[in-house]
Amino acid sequence: MSTQENRPFAVVTGASSGIGFELAKVLAEEGFDLLITAEDAEIDGAQRELNQLTASVECTRLDLSREEEINRLYERIQAAARPVDVLVLNAGIGAGGDFARETELRKELRLIDLNVRSTVHLCKLVVQDMVARDQGRILFTSSIASTMPGAYQAVYNASKSFVQSFALAIRNELKDTDLTVTSLMPGPTETEFFERADMLDTPVGEEEKDDPAEVARQGYEALMAGREKVVGGSFKNKAQTVLGKVVPDSVKAEMHRKMAQPATAGEKEER
Ligand SMILES: NC(=O)c1ccc[n+]([C@@H]2O[C@H](COP(=O)([O-])OP(=O)(O)OC[C@H]3O[C@@H](n4cnc5c(N)ncnc54)[C@H](OP(=O)(O)O)[C@@H]3O)[C@@H](O)[C@H]2O)c1
Repeated sequence: MSTQENRPFAVVTGASSGIGFELAKVLAEEGFDLLITAEDAEIDGAQRELNQLTASVECTRLDLSREEEINRLYERIQAAARPVDVLVLNAGIGAGGDFARETELRKELRLIDLNVRSTVHLCKLVVQDMVARDQGRILFTSSIASTMPGAYQAVYNASKSFVQSFALAIRNELKDTDLTVTSLMPGPTETEFFERADMLDTPVGEEEKDDPAEVARQGYEALMAGREKVVGGSFKNKAQTVLGKVVPDSVKAEMHRKMAQPATAGEKEER
């Protein structure tokens, strides 16, 4: 019989919906106990659903864009009084639009607080415990956006470039340990992301997207295999990242513009 002593334990941020929920689901299916977190009440529904799959699912509602709430999450982790076998740093938001003429600085700074600051902060706290035990796996939800300048999504892509670089750097620093660090790089995936980023009115917002369950399964397998990174979803995403290695940044920025420019911005240009 499985007991808390022999079941592994995973902490997943941004687990109420989309890729984070699906990652938590795979982990539950694979026998992990979970501590899941998100900001809104939807996390309670996620907890109920995940509870059908694994005996122990704790959840906590926190705004991880706030430093003190990251400290509260770490207190919850410590209160669990068990080692974190897997840390999934997934919570993130987007922000579409024209940086100079349209978007709100307040929202963009909050994006940086969540996507960048909270990722570094929580990683710092948990990885130190992992290093002390010489055991643990960390999965960062990065993005294929990390590989291209994000015209009409400038701050978001920059935040994911940060996450990608950070993940690969600490992976290297930890190469002499038993820890693993993996970057999951999804392409456009069918979640609440585009609506929340105000990007439904863009070609990428309107196009058919990858299944978050498939992306999560790819992320889980890469994590457990200790791989450096995995491009999630369709072959198109993989081709885009391979091609991205030889295409100049200015061309990638122009390609991104075509995907992320709102229809209304196009109208303005035609006038
Ligand atoms: N969808 C894509 O096309 C795509 C592609 C590449 C990478 N990604 C990345 O995948 C990750 C997950 O996004 P998703 O696509 O699955 O979108 P999603 O469905 O909107 O999920 C985002 C998750 O982050 C949580 N979150 C948002 N703001 C938070 C805050 N201030 N504090 C704590 N939690 C917060 C949300 O919880 P609440 O609802 O409670 O706020 C939710 O659980 C993000 O890092 C995103 O950048 C997405």
